[in-house]
Amino acid sequence: MFSTPIVKDVDYDKVYEPSEDSFCFLDCFEDQKEFLEERLGKKVTPLLVEIGTGSGIITTFLLQNILPDAVYMATDVNPSACTSVLNTVRLNCPQRACLVDSLRMSLVSGVRRNLVDVLVFNPPYVPATEVPKYSQKGDDDSNWLDLALLGGKDGMITTWQVLNDLEEILSSRGVAYILFCARNKPENVAEEMRSRGWRVDIVFKRKAGWEVLSILRFIKV
Ligand SMILES: C[S@@+](CC[C@H](N)C(=O)[O-])C[C@H]1O[C@@H](n2cnc3c(N)ncnc32)[C@H](O)[C@@H]1O
Repeated sequence: MFSTPIVKDVDYDKVYEPSEDSFCFLDCFEDQKEFLEERLGKKVTPLLVEIGTGSGIITTFLLQNILPDAVYMATDVNPSACTSVLNTVRLNCPQRACLVDSLRMSLVSGVRRNLVDVLVFNPPYVPATEVPKYSQKGDDDSNWLDLALLGGKDGMITTWQVLNDLEEILSSRGVAYILFCARNKPENVAEEMRSRGWRVDIVFKRKAGWEVLSILRFIKV
């Protein structure tokens, strides 16, 4: 069992605190290590992108334990999260910190098409009347914690933005891991994506309090 990265000096009034959903990803990737090594091979350095990196716990865990030689891009709309991921990486794996870059952007809007080998997203998945707006300029007037959680109708507005673009985001060997709660109706999402020609597997499922969390893996067929 791999150890959990140390996360220190993160301002949890502004940045999502690692929670049950974050830990699901750590356990999931422990199981997925062999699959990823086999799929990605050793010839070309893989590019891993985590959308919505928060404290950086998932990216750091992946770098430390699962794909130590990949190149990492961490994105978040929250400027404090963009700083936190780099601090967490440096704290846990100083010698590999040069492999991680952090960029403030929405989703993967600034990433060139069809380059991403592994996409990871623990999205704002809680159903709400709308996805909160955020400040594009600074970090003073936005409610970053609401933005980390609230996903609009069915909690799926932000997640569908990524799923609808997945074909253009992933490389030919690309694979995406996205987390869902039961209220996101993951079985319906899987069915819809299969009908669009994707292979979808539920690779992780866990009851967390009253919530059931699952991680779906999407592969281009
Ligand atoms: C549920 S939190 C997950 C944080 C971290 N990955 C973890 O698992 O602990 C969702 C994260 O997504 C970010 N986020 C929300 N909307 C986003 C968007 N449109 N583009 C990029 N990041 C976004 C939030 O700021 C937040 O850090």
